[in-house]
Amino acid sequence: MASSDDWAAVDDWLAGQHLGKDDALDAALAANAAAGLPHIDVSATHGRLLQLLALSLGARRVLEIGTLGGFSTICLARGLAEDGRVVTLEIDPKHARIAAENIARAGQAGKVEIRQGPALETLEAMIAAGEAPFDLFFIDADKENNANYLKAALSLSRKGTVIVVDNVVRDGGVIDPDNHEPMIEGTRRAHAFVRDEPRLLSTAVQTVGSKGWDGFICAVVA
Ligand code: SAH
Ligand code: DHB
Ligand code: MG
Repeated sequence: MASSDDWAAVDDWLAGQHLGKDDALDAALAANAAAGLPHIDVSATHGRLLQLLALSLGARRVLEIGTLGGFSTICLARGLAEDGRVVTLEIDPKHARIAAENIARAGQAGKVEIRQGPALETLEAMIAAGEAPFDLFFIDADKENNANYLKAALSLSRKGTVIVVDNVVRDGGVIDPDNHEPMIEGTRRAHAFVRDEPRLLSTAVQTVGSKGWDGFICAVVA
């Protein structure tokens, strides 16, 4: 058992054991594919983890950076406390439109607000407007900006806020000294930001599965 085919097969088996049939998420993936969106949503098992995180935190305010077709957004929305909201930031108007349709089809439209535009600008406006702190962040957009997103997230946090950053291993590229791709450099800056920020207690977890070899940072604001 060593190949990525095996990781994907086990992921499918785990999904069968734990997740059950999910018409709304299946429909979202089909709509994304039909619209030509890249298939870079979180896996079904990771989506459930996002739902469980929101649920266990009793989250009422969740901020997602990077909506795509709303697969992870639907998962987060499902985990919200009664009267909770997910705000999700997306630069691409087409992605935002497909996401709005998928989220509505999943019955979550009343719990989700999509803010279209460059996330860094949206975040700066939110900070300037003095928006209330969020309970949970899911950072999953342009990896080049991850350290900037972490900094902004801290400004919109309180003690106990949880911050998850996706795709922080990228096939092991983060430790390849010859790899200077902007995404990899951005991911290294994210790890360094968290390491050097005394208000954050963190870990990073490697993952294999239907999305290959990757991982996520999980940090809590002290
Ligand atoms: N969270 C989604 C996947 C997001 S893919 C899921 O798991 O289902 C990354 C998304 O970030 C893409 O839709 C891309 O258009 C968006 N993005 C890239 N750069 C961005 C930016 N500067 N501001 C906001 N969104 C951005
Ligand atoms: C990419 C982005 C993602 O959010 C992801 O989960 C996988 C890949 C990418 O841009 O390559
Ligand atoms: Mg991702």
